[in-house]
Amino acid sequence: MKRTEIKDLLECQKPQEEVLVKGWVRTKRGSKNLSFIALNDGSTIKNVQIIADHPKFDEALLKTITTGASIAVHGKWVASSGGNQAFELLAEKIEVLGEAHPDEYPLQPKRHSLEFLREIAHLRPRTSTFSAVFRIRHQLSFAVHQYFHKKGFYYIHSPIITGSDAEGAGEMFQVTTLPLNNIPTNEQNQVDFSKDFFNKPTNLTVSGQLEAELAALALSKVYTFGPTFRAENSNTTRHLAEFWMIEPEVAFNDLVDNMDLAEDFLKAIIGSVLENCEDDLNFLEQRQLNEEKQKPQDQRSPMPLKERLKFVVDNTFERITYTQAVKILKDSKPNKKKRFSFLVDEWGIDLQSEHERFLVEKHFKKPVIITDYPASIKAFYMKLNDDQKTVRGMDILFPGIGEMVGGSQREENYERLLDGVKRFDIHKDEVWWYLETRKYGTVPHSGFGLGFERMVQFVSGMSNIRDVIPFPRFPGSAEF
Ligand code: 4AD
Ligand code: MG
Repeated sequence: MKRTEIKDLLECQKPQEEVLVKGWVRTKRGSKNLSFIALNDGSTIKNVQIIADHPKFDEALLKTITTGASIAVHGKWVASSGGNQAFELLAEKIEVLGEAHPDEYPLQPKRHSLEFLREIAHLRPRTSTFSAVFRIRHQLSFAVHQYFHKKGFYYIHSPIITGSDAEGAGEMFQVTTLPLNNIPTNEQNQVDFSKDFFNKPTNLTVSGQLEAELAALALSKVYTFGPTFRAENSNTTRHLAEFWMIEPEVAFNDLVDNMDLAEDFLKAIIGSVLENCEDDLNFLEQRQLNEEKQKPQDQRSPMPLKERLKFVVDNTFERITYTQAVKILKDSKPNKKKRFSFLVDEWGIDLQSEHERFLVEKHFKKPVIITDYPASIKAFYMKLNDDQKTVRGMDILFPGIGEMVGGSQREENYERLLDGVKRFDIHKDEVWWYLETRKYGTVPHSGFGLGFERMVQFVSGMSNIRDVIPFPRFPGSAEF
């Protein structure tokens, strides 16, 4: 007999003579003659209630039906007399597929801390919280592909192993097959990379942008969606060493087109979760409300989760220049009262997350796009403005998250791009192919990168980025 998924079964509002469900036991409670089993198979956050009438079942079998055990249940789908559910499954036959011994199984039906669950990341998808987060993560990634496909973008698979450092920040994981205990050297006593697998130094990519640009200069509208790797030693709730990035790149777009695309795109994918993940959002909203009760008043989110998402979808993002942002920050209360850890005194400083959060959460109270940053604090490929000091870069800042998106119009002029490459000490022979696109049929073009996990964080309301990717990688941790 074919298994019915619990999601479909719960939608079925008329009695069924025989159904088969399979899943993992969340809880079992009971009386002398009856057991109530809550079963979940991941197809929905909801459990199905199973009634086992004791005389029908072997006592030894009933004993092995404990939290975490996997079971298959044949039974009758009947209207429920209890309060919490319209229908329930009256078990006729139960088979235990895999036991989970209660003295050993680490997930008991009680509140576990997120820190503890991170240590058992192999089992945490079985909790309501993590299964909800991962279903939302799926919906978001599906919405990304759907959005771009509908708009005529092509999905480009950028390489994971590269010889370049797209962001020029030097935060790369090296890839090598050289024996680390016996590294070959050349006459100058330097590592002899000609003996390495690719005959040159290589690393895991920090961004697919440069390759996306090559494709955009032929296919016009492209995007990448792949893993990226950064060896920055940031032990924060917003950084991972391995994260996924979505990078659209569009020929003939300027910075304003780029902002319009980003805003429309972000609203569309958030909207798709509101539309398709109601049960999971309801659960996560309640979860966050409970969590926030423990926090001091001024650190609580001003809006419940779903309202926050709707607010972003329904309102236009604020657009300001870096110069305007610095002015607002300079005149702000926390700056005047010296409450910022980094005081804003002069034009040219890099904005810290406390500044970004002030602008988004206190001043504008909605997503903010900051443009035209000083060239010195942004990447080599951004297009220089006529003032020769600022570049056509943009960051999109979100409440509770800070930087969600980073992007820019690209420098399409060969000479000026070469200047950028030199200014940032990048070897010309590392990026000769990138430079050549500016020699042959160059056009204005723009793109941006969305940190996928930061978006999952925003939409799910989870406070730590390590809890929105199945197996997080961060300094000192690559378990599972
Ligand atoms: O601002 P970034 O460094 O921009 C780029 O990589 C460009 N190449 C994008 C482009 O124009 N095509 O990174 C883009 C986004 C950030 O805004 C942030 O959301 C996310 O990637 N991000 C991280 N997310 C998690 N962990 C990290 N360590 C991250 N570093 C950046
Ligand atoms: Mg950035």
